Amino acid sequence: MLQLDHLTQRYGALTALNDVSLTIGRGEFFGLLGPNGAGKSTLMSLVAGLREPAAGTLRLDGVALAGRPAEVVRAIGFVPQSVALYEDLTADENLGLYGRLYGLAGRKLAARIDACLDAVQLTDRRRHAVKTYSGGMQRRLNLAASLLHEPKLLLCDEPTVGVDPQSRNAIFDLLERLNRDGLTVIYSTHYMEEATRLCSRIGIIDHGRILALGTLDELLAQLPAAEVVSFARNGAPAPALAALARFGTLRERDERCEVLLAPGVRLADFFAATQAAGWPDRAFTLKRPTLEDLFLHLTGKTLRE
Ligand SMILES: Nc1ncnc2c1ncn2[C@@H]1O[C@H](COP(=O)(O)OP(=O)(O)O)[C@@H](O)[C@H]1O
Ligand SMILES: [Mg+2]
Repeated sequence: MLQLDHLTQRYGALTALNDVSLTIGRGEFFGLLGPNGAGKSTLMSLVAGLREPAAGTLRLDGVALAGRPAEVVRAIGFVPQSVALYEDLTADENLGLYGRLYGLAGRKLAARIDACLDAVQLTDRRRHAVKTYSGGMQRRLNLAASLLHEPKLLLCDEPTVGVDPQSRNAIFDLLERLNRDGLTVIYSTHYMEEATRLCSRIGIIDHGRILALGTLDELLAQLPAAEVVSFARNGAPAPALAALARFGTLRERDERCEVLLAPGVRLADFFAATQAAGWPDRAFTLKRPTLEDLFLHLTGKTLRE
């Protein structure tokens, strides 16, 4: 559905996107996972048509996005990272304005406003000014505004930042439902939990480059470790801690230590060594590696750094 070829974008001397090529299929829920400054919003802004790329091309169903033909504009919905609403206007008035910008009018517009307000559960607040809304309600209305014209591709740029858990779940549920009904979604986030829960395929982005691409399982398979063993640092006998290094990569995180077991290491051998050092098994917790572990593995830093 969407094809990005060798996209590059610069701000002065800074290369914010560096030769990114990416194909997104119809019906995907594609996640763009990366820390602040990775280039997520820059990528979104190019697809949304807010600016033209310094180099590279974008195509939607084979049609070049350059010049923004009307069919392309109507096919894309965009939820920007910062809420784009008029706060002195009500929800009804905001949606009326956005709907008319997309060429909707009359009964069709009224019906779409009703449907979108219902989808984001704001019908009962529709005649209240947006400035009286909580952050979560504003985010939900921001999402509704992107759906009025029934796009087939929806761009969501960190739509849950600063949102209460209830609004976040409402946003997740709605996006999952729309995706099941055929909407293609590109969703950027720096929360690996969101990418893990929502996305059928994920691109990990940092410094303007896609570092890894695949389903959750495909991405985690790129990690050398199939298991991570963690334990409280203050419980560790010093000589035993040093001995663990031969089982994999040892790293320290706040109060805890983690060992990413090297390929082929058997848990039985690991625990035989810790038992021999007089360390009780209950001191350890086993977990599957996460996208956070993969990001650390690829970049040497965490998503929040
Ligand atoms: N309008 C701009 N002018 C100059 N630099 C920018 C601008 N927008 C973004 N940047 C820089 O480009 C890089 C990528 O930013 P951005 O695409 O916003 O990343 P993300 O959305 O992943 O946080 C960052 O280093 C950011 O500081
Ligand atoms: Mg951003």
